[in-house]
Amino acid sequence: MGVEKILPLLTVFTIYSTMVLGSYVSTIGAGLACPDWPLCPFPTTWEVLVEYMHRGFAMLSFLLATLTTYALVKRGNKYAKATAVLGLLLLIIQVFLVGAIVIFSALQPVLVTVHMGVALLVFGLYTIAAAYSVKG
Ligand code: HEM
Repeated sequence: MGVEKILPLLTVFTIYSTMVLGSYVSTIGAGLACPDWPLCPFPTTWEVLVEYMHRGFAMLSFLLATLTTYALVKRGNKYAKATAVLGLLLLIIQVFLVGAIVIFSALQPVLVTVHMGVALLVFGLYTIAAAYSVKG
């Protein structure tokens, strides 16, 4: 399997892991364990570590999605290209804007819900892009 097939699958798996970690952040009440953005204090508690991992996986998702989108824009079919580009735009908004707003709003419920909604869209779009790229 070529890199343009493996990268999208890896991206989907990483976005999925970020979402599962996000749910754990939420359910253990660690959303404000890092009260700052983009960095937070050295992780000395489990809550801060979990929040760190969520942000780390988010950053990794962004890096992999960027590489995937680049590969698909060069070689993918028009559906894979369109879904990857739209997914990347939403992911940039999620990582660099919505994530920060969630923190600075002190977890305002509507904004946490928007965060979840954008995550689902990004996951769905890259799943479609991966399916198209595996199919060829
Ligand atoms: C790939 C990007 C990201 C994805 C896919 C993602 C996904 C999620 C998901 C699914 C949840 C669970 C929501 C819920 O249970 O209602 C969550 C929670 C959370 N995310 Fe993200 N997230 C991303 C990036 C970020 C970034 C960059 C930040 C902050 C810098 C952030 C901060 C948070 C916080 C604080 C929570 C917990 C909210 C609460 O306590 O209710 N996320 N995330």
